[in-house]
Amino acid sequence: MKRRSFSVLPFFTAGVCLAVLVLVAPSEAISHPKYQASSDNVVPNRYIVEFDYGDSTSANSFVHSVQNKFKKAKIHIAHQFDHDLFNGISFGLNGLDNKEHDAALKSVLDQDSVKAVYPVRVIKRPDITIRKVSSKGKTPSILPHAMTQVDRVHSELKKFGKGIKVGVVDTGIDYLHPALGGGFGKGFKVQYGYDLVGNDYTGGNTPVPDDDPLDSCTAESGASGHGTHVSGIIAGYDSKTNFTGVAPQATLGMWRVFGCKGNTGNDVLVKSFLMAYDAGMDVISVSIGENNAWSNGPDTIVAQRIAEKGIPFIVAAGNAGADGAFTVGMPSTAKDIWSTASVDNNYHLVDLFKASSISKKIVYLTSSGSKIPDGTAASGGTDACDPSTIPKLTGKIALVQRGTCTFDEKAANAAKAGAIGLIVYNSNNGDSFTPSNPEATIPVIGISTADGLALLAGIKSGTETLKFDTTQAVYPLVTGNTVSDFSSVGASYELDLKPNVAGIGGQIYSTLPRFLGSWGIMSGTSMATPYVAGSVALFIEAKGLKKNNKVISEQFKNYALKLVHVNGESAIESPLLQGAGLVQVYDAIAGKVRVSPTQLSFNDSSSFNKYKTQTVSIYNAGKVRATFKVINEPSISVAPYNRSVQGYALLAPTGFSNAKAKLIFSKTSITLNPGQKATVRVTVVPPKTNPKDHIMYGGYIRFKSGNRKTTLDTTVPYFGVVGKQRDLPLFDAKYPYLSDSDGTNVFSKSDTYTYNRSNSTTIPYIIYRLLTPTAKFDVDVLNAKTKKSIGKTMTDSVYLPANTLETDNYISGASWDATYIPPSFSDVSSGIPVPSGTYILHLRALKLLGNPKDSKDWETFQTGPIVVKN
Ligand SMILES: *[C@@H]1O[C@H](CO)[C@@H](O)[C@H](O)[C@H]1NC(C)=O
Ligand SMILES: *[C@@H]1O[C@H](CO)[C@@H](O)[C@H](O)[C@H]1NC(C)=O
Ligand SMILES: *[C@@H]1O[C@H](CO)[C@@H](O)[C@H](O)[C@H]1NC(C)=O
Ligand SMILES: *[C@@H]1O[C@H](CO)[C@@H](O)[C@H](O)[C@H]1NC(C)=O
Ligand SMILES: *[C@@H]1O[C@H](CO)[C@@H](O)[C@H](O)[C@H]1NC(C)=O
Repeated sequence: MKRRSFSVLPFFTAGVCLAVLVLVAPSEAISHPKYQASSDNVVPNRYIVEFDYGDSTSANSFVHSVQNKFKKAKIHIAHQFDHDLFNGISFGLNGLDNKEHDAALKSVLDQDSVKAVYPVRVIKRPDITIRKVSSKGKTPSILPHAMTQVDRVHSELKKFGKGIKVGVVDTGIDYLHPALGGGFGKGFKVQYGYDLVGNDYTGGNTPVPDDDPLDSCTAESGASGHGTHVSGIIAGYDSKTNFTGVAPQATLGMWRVFGCKGNTGNDVLVKSFLMAYDAGMDVISVSIGENNAWSNGPDTIVAQRIAEKGIPFIVAAGNAGADGAFTVGMPSTAKDIWSTASVDNNYHLVDLFKASSISKKIVYLTSSGSKIPDGTAASGGTDACDPSTIPKLTGKIALVQRGTCTFDEKAANAAKAGAIGLIVYNSNNGDSFTPSNPEATIPVIGISTADGLALLAGIKSGTETLKFDTTQAVYPLVTGNTVSDFSSVGASYELDLKPNVAGIGGQIYSTLPRFLGSWGIMSGTSMATPYVAGSVALFIEAKGLKKNNKVISEQFKNYALKLVHVNGESAIESPLLQGAGLVQVYDAIAGKVRVSPTQLSFNDSSSFNKYKTQTVSIYNAGKVRATFKVINEPSISVAPYNRSVQGYALLAPTGFSNAKAKLIFSKTSITLNPGQKATVRVTVVPPKTNPKDHIMYGGYIRFKSGNRKTTLDTTVPYFGVVGKQRDLPLFDAKYPYLSDSDGTNVFSKSDTYTYNRSNSTTIPYIIYRLLTPTAKFDVDVLNAKTKKSIGKTMTDSVYLPANTLETDNYISGASWDATYIPPSFSDVSSGIPVPSGTYILHLRALKLLGNPKDSKDWETFQTGPIVVKN
């Protein structure tokens, strides 16, 4: 079976919904206990092999053994992981037809020394817009360090990260930037690192490594400067403007895993993680990941093993918050990784313009490099999505509302009508915003709904002229100190509490490569992650405590600041958005009391009895006696669904509710002498919401100190689900269905589908849309007459994420080439063609957290008859 991802055009396209087929990658018809088949997003013909520990199989002898059996095979070793933490290689296998390819792969799997084989997965380049700004004379006022106590660590403790090594895995770094040390190697700020890929690497081609992690791309290449921005957040320092990173004296390492554009593979990530570990990094910062809330695959495994060695491993939670709950991504989902959420900065830099009819200046944001020239404003019709409704705009600045089509489409239509610039005003009474318009030929800016409507009134009542300021101004951000709207929401699919902590990631000013103008603002959990990594560097320096992830993460989580859900309101934000809260570095260093575990998952109602009572221990490592009251501080709840509106499709963005859990504590007051420890048993009484709503309640256990002058409060986040995850339906209504290569022609159960093997365009597809993720998905081939299975169509697909409402991930599809694997797979290397005849495909997908041995925990579907002709 071959997999494809089908993308449907956005819903706003009028008329029929067309499907665009994008071939992602063939999946092998291999069935083997050691083969860790993946879902889609795999790099064709590339594999990671893990050898048994202690096995000294060299990569060369491995290649020889395969080569001897398959003379035509072109085997290329991409990476060798000759390491205690992961012993293996990644290789490309080419030059063989499908059958030989599968046979060669099976011979690899059959080798005794091989522990597991994984297809290489595509890891997408972080998608982030840059706002190029000049903060002349205003830099210190837009730094977020007062929000995290980093300012106090600098000014009171005089800690700047000196001697602490922070490893970054990213797009490379422009270390010739004056704020990043101006060089590479001994004596410079950037002392460690490697380029694992080269400029031309895009994720599917062969990497060309060299030992210099410089970002040597150009503005024309489309490079984002992501790694340079991330590095500046950690350790940048510029004496001219007083730009100060979190740990400006820390030493940096950069392992470059992206070329100038395109993606990377998870084999490159595995290698980079191991290299950063071997270089002796004290903390590792990774602003990269996949939108998949499972926790598996070699990169996730290696990150976890590094954390188990005591190295704090900080990973971005993801920027898919707009898609709702369960959007935290791998590898941040691994147990001991710090999955990092983003909080908005309190201040940002804005541009301003003056409209002749409005007295106060209007704030706008833009990602456009060029500015709109001063001129006259005109209405561009409602939204500039339908060219026939757009008036002539020659030489005018067009004003339109947000929505219906993309910013690029609006800009193209307005430009065609003669506009010299485009102002888009926000919908839903929203604030000024940054439109993303990579293709636009005229500048595009975003303003608030209120300003847009005022401007529209001005245009209607006479001539409205606009004058644009040449310098930017520092403005408070209304969402400052709350979780960024893009920040991915937990929990992990297995109901581990993720994200774990938050850093500042919304509207962050930092370094850009000189080819991109040296300075700019980016927003993302990509920015929050290095913020937290820099904070850890300060902590390690202050405490002289290395390789102790357990204690370091306890201190940061115990003393993090709990944020409110919305500024001006009292509801506490859910731990599924902020984790333990926003890092408070001074308190993390000063805190003398440790509480563990640092977070509790009460799981869902099916395993309620196992998880409802848990024990938390509190230890006084200080020199004074401390007393505490134990208090429950419930947060707002996450309401992932609204059944009456869209069934079990996740709300995007997620909904919230005021449901609150009660906690029963075995003690409510505690006194601890220095060196003493106490335990508290915590039993949850979940809110009485309808289990069908799957409400995720949460909050914090606060150990409220009797004397905050000597002992600080500590907190532990908790959450749980009312309802059973395994009751969630997997397939959306009307799915799956059988189709042809068009993807949208539905063959119902009463239709007969004909597959003529000699005509490949007649190959059948199963189109599915998963509302809920599944850990196992397989397909049996049934004889249509006897309804008995003759075997499977493919290896089990494992750990499929849910489909989303996003265009390119709305539905998925898998084709059936009329082969099958008989139940006794041991001698079969690839699928056997079924004889001509009539078959039915029987799909099974394991319900979330379901028991594979219980047939009730599988959701099934049978297609109509498929006639296979030769
Ligand atoms: C930078 O900081 C120093 C010391 O606080 C101050 O004297 C100087 O004016 C600042 N420069 C700028 C450009 O803000
Ligand atoms: C929640 O329960 C399920 C099913 O028992 C289990 O697989 C999962 O690991 C649990 N999650 C956590 C975080 O303990
Ligand atoms: C679901 O959506 C409807 C319509 O928007 C709204 O009235 C209702 O309150 C929502 N229900 C929940 C549980 O959020
Ligand atoms: C293959 O099948 C398609 C779809 O049924 C049909 O349109 C096409 O003519 C066939 N091609 C040949 C060579 O028969
Ligand atoms: C199958 O397709 C081939 C080539 O398109 C054609 O020549 C042949 O007649 C078809 N066979 C049947 C049984 O439809």
